[in-house]
Amino acid sequence: MSAQQLRRLDQWLANLGYCSRRAAPQFVRSGRVLVDGVRETNVARKVNSAAITVDGEALEYPHGLLIAMNKPLGVVCSHDERDGPMVYDLLPSRWMQRNPQPLTVGRLDKETSGCLIITDDGQLAHRWTSPKTQKCASFYEVTVDKPLNTYLIDTFAAGNLLLDNDSKPCLPAELIIHDDVHATLILTEGRYHQVRRMFAAEGWLVTALHRSRFGNVDVAGLAPGEWRTIHPDAV
Ligand code: URA
Repeated sequence: MSAQQLRRLDQWLANLGYCSRRAAPQFVRSGRVLVDGVRETNVARKVNSAAITVDGEALEYPHGLLIAMNKPLGVVCSHDERDGPMVYDLLPSRWMQRNPQPLTVGRLDKETSGCLIITDDGQLAHRWTSPKTQKCASFYEVTVDKPLNTYLIDTFAAGNLLLDNDSKPCLPAELIIHDDVHATLILTEGRYHQVRRMFAAEGWLVTALHRSRFGNVDVAGLAPGEWRTIHPDAV
């Protein structure tokens, strides 16, 4: 959406999660909404997002939301509360009222921590995760249950490791072994439980998993649960 786009005031407020479209007339009558510094009660007025403030603050991410979170262990990427505490619970509750709603770009398991991209831009998410267009490498810091063997480097690089229930072998992946039980695995695809399944296929159990990077984005300096805004070109 262009930064210059004119839209109805109630559309901005509702799409960005400040209130429902139906509640917009009441919301603006409360005096919390200014347009160009002046109280505005006509919800049908077409305005630029930059002209609007709510409670004295500019609108939050009016032209799309894109963040990198350091996902903590124990939270799920699903939207179903029955799966456990959700990453979305860690974000401002207003964001979940946005339309479109923010979604994770791919998923990390409940027991995987690290770099998780969240956006309301479906096209970006698709570009970064679709098997046809994905160019982003994901860097996983892996801990395993017993000493690693260097043959794994060639096995993962060969591009012919076929995992249970998959019809195609994994794409070539780079394994960098740091010590007996620690390694970095770099993937350019994102299959279900892929890292755990690749190691399991060769007889190793992954005991800890952290995604340190997605594309060029890392979460260095972010405590678990914290996030920062990123630019699409940064990925
Ligand atoms: N591979 C896994 O096994 N789990 C993740 O969360 C991500 C990649």
